[in-house]
Amino acid sequence: MKKATLAVHAGSARERNMGGINSPILTSSAIEYLDDTEVRYPRYFNTFNQQVVAAKLCALEGAPDGLVTSSGMAAISSIMMGLLHPGEHAIIMEGMYGGTHSLVTTEFRRLGIEYSISSGEPDDIRAQIRPNTRLLFVESPTNPLLRVIDLAAVAEITHQHGIVNAIDNTFATPILQNPLSLGFDLVMHSGTKYLGGHSDLCCGALLGSEALIERIRNHALMHGGSLNAQECYLLERSLKTLDLRVRRQSENALIVAHDLLEVPGIVRVNYPGLPSHPGHDIAVRQMTGFGGMLSFELDPAIDPVRFLRALQWIPCAISLGGVETLLCQPVATSHARMELGERERLGITPQLIRVSVGIEDVGDIVEEVVTAIQEAA
Ligand SMILES: Cc1ncc(COP(=O)(O)O)c(C=O)c1O
Repeated sequence: MKKATLAVHAGSARERNMGGINSPILTSSAIEYLDDTEVRYPRYFNTFNQQVVAAKLCALEGAPDGLVTSSGMAAISSIMMGLLHPGEHAIIMEGMYGGTHSLVTTEFRRLGIEYSISSGEPDDIRAQIRPNTRLLFVESPTNPLLRVIDLAAVAEITHQHGIVNAIDNTFATPILQNPLSLGFDLVMHSGTKYLGGHSDLCCGALLGSEALIERIRNHALMHGGSLNAQECYLLERSLKTLDLRVRRQSENALIVAHDLLEVPGIVRVNYPGLPSHPGHDIAVRQMTGFGGMLSFELDPAIDPVRFLRALQWIPCAISLGGVETLLCQPVATSHARMELGERERLGITPQLIRVSVGIEDVGDIVEEVVTAIQEAA
């Protein structure tokens, strides 16, 4: 089946008593176990709605197994805490989501776990590998600069050294990129973004082989961080339109990116769909669309906050991936906690504006941005 069909049907379980075609929401936290093969409990990631929605995500990512978590960060910390021991070493990619960067740079030191930060280029990853390296964690495209790395090449290097590799696939979504088919071991998502898709859910997911998921689950169930039945159902409902939403957002973003290139007051546009983007050729190879996220840099003469305040109907808000277009200034939101020097080195300046392109009419989106720039200039 194609993804549009899987998004609607995979995993979903009909309601048996009344013949309802949607999965029922089973809220019990006390579940009889005498006639079951396992003990079920919401924190153990094995209740009905948790399994239904995990099965849909597994079908979309081509994963044998998966867990649905209470946030994207719960998925990331479950991978890291589940797989790494004190004295071991992990490689993470520079320019990743600020929360992931902060988790590694603050918590790892406290826990005695070593880390290196890599550009994500295959040669650099090879150079960072140590005898005690156990995990590589990357993001592609990255938040907010939309850097793209060669996933198949990176996966091959880590496998040569017996290192588990994991990727944050939030920006691409399972619709546009399936890292497991390129050799990755684990994929995670901030479900708060495209998977939820309506800016009203906080959730996450991690997917991979049965053996890896079981290893992670055994630790994650002690840390908490599973998702409750109601939210699992909302996520399942949202996923039914994932293909539709993401393809529209991706089409809109390509048009917005091209149009913004011509707008006075914008000095740079970061979008993997632009032929001028350094990762364009790799993105063409490993993605089936370029996604709904882009960022642009305002001319130094334009005050970014003045510009954001001049927007009429596009909200200036943190988060992304919803049906509505959102703009934000990463230095004030997603990357506010990143050290200033590191932010500047990466090119995340106050002039950088991130756009999560929604499903609205694309002409309206471009006009709104252009008008706000004119007012702020
Ligand atoms: C790429 C990416 N990964 C992970 C996260 C963390 O997800 P959550 O906020 O659901 O914990 C975010 C949040 O913005 C993100 O943008």
